[in-house]
Amino acid sequence: MIEPLRSPGASALTEACRQRLRRRESEGLLRQALVRDRAQEGTPWVIDHGRRLLGFASNDYLGLAHDPRLAAAAATALERYGTSASAAGLLGGRTALHAELEARLTEWLGQEAALVLPSGYQANLAAQAFLGRHAIVLHDRLNHASLLEATVLARGRARRYRHADAAHCASLLAQPGVELIATESLFGMDGDAAPLAALAEIAAHRSLPLLVDEAHALGVLGPQGNGLAVSLPADLRPAIIVGTFGKALASQGACIAGPEALIDFLRQVAAPAVYTTALAPAAVAVTLKAIEVLRDEPDRRSILRQRVQQFVAAIAGRLPLTAQPEGAVVGLLVGEASRAVEISRRLADVGFVVPAIRPPTVPEGSSRLRVSLTAAHTEAQVEALAAALWACWPREPVPPTTARVPQA
Ligand SMILES: Cc1ncc(COP(=O)(O)O)c(C=O)c1O
Repeated sequence: MIEPLRSPGASALTEACRQRLRRRESEGLLRQALVRDRAQEGTPWVIDHGRRLLGFASNDYLGLAHDPRLAAAAATALERYGTSASAAGLLGGRTALHAELEARLTEWLGQEAALVLPSGYQANLAAQAFLGRHAIVLHDRLNHASLLEATVLARGRARRYRHADAAHCASLLAQPGVELIATESLFGMDGDAAPLAALAEIAAHRSLPLLVDEAHALGVLGPQGNGLAVSLPADLRPAIIVGTFGKALASQGACIAGPEALIDFLRQVAAPAVYTTALAPAAVAVTLKAIEVLRDEPDRRSILRQRVQQFVAAIAGRLPLTAQPEGAVVGLLVGEASRAVEISRRLADVGFVVPAIRPPTVPEGSSRLRVSLTAAHTEAQVEALAAALWACWPREPVPPTTARVPQA
């Protein structure tokens, strides 16, 4: 039993936080995190408090998180470099493995240089550290929170254009002080792709840098799983790419890739990169191995594509998509937060994990279910999910759910 803190400051804080939590609960915004005991090796099954559930919530899009080759790479790095980088990158935490990964990422992403960081959140915060005070950054309305907070941290101002609307983005260039355009390449909550070529044209026309966050595209799209930006013509290639390793690459950490001078500058100056312990060497080794596997095994990407196509065909015309899915994520629009939570709960009752995504992660009134498919799902599992969703989707009166997870 934990003893309650008794100081007046702790009591006041407790009351303030309780009030805020109660308010979130009454608005249907409180999140209940699943506690995963373990996953069954190489499968999307998850064990939650002893219950076996079929997961559609993982960002391990290619099913690599249990790959023995990645685990072996981690084990070798652990033995050679220990469990921690033990220091910030500029103070001795950067190992030969970090340097090798940065060189590999530079080539893989088609940029001049790369900087490895401990997380994608930090990479995005660091990537805008070059902005001048009061700079305006044009953001897609659905950009990830870390992209927006980077602008705040740099003391800039965010202006948001309509989702995936390059013409609206261009119209906002009329105001003075715009220094950057920032977008995800594949949107993590809606699953659709940004109009990258059009945004790159707009940026090139005004000699502005374009920042592209490839978190959900890396591993999934691109000739070697190296994302969407790399396929743009050289004269339209974005100046800044942020890539994360914690999704399809089945690792941890992230990178910023871009012009050598920018990367040198960020390495020296960007607070989220400077004042933090360098990424653990084992995660660096896993990322290197994952990039190799992605290059050698394009079939993983094809299987994922097939599963997504199968799922979309199974629900077509019956359930509302948030957008046309281009990667592994399929969003199903619900609207009200409480309704999304209710459908997610019903799905859990019959053995499926499909998270409800609510504000502030997505705009008010656009709560949805986020179905994340992976190359590790079987056709039967995808079919079962489509049937369960159909059964759990609210109608009046709500029908009893009969769909069950196939135990295969
Ligand atoms: C688009 C996008 N960028 C960045 C991040 C942050 O990455 P990380 O989980 O490595 O901090 C995420 C993670 O949710 C994301 O979806």
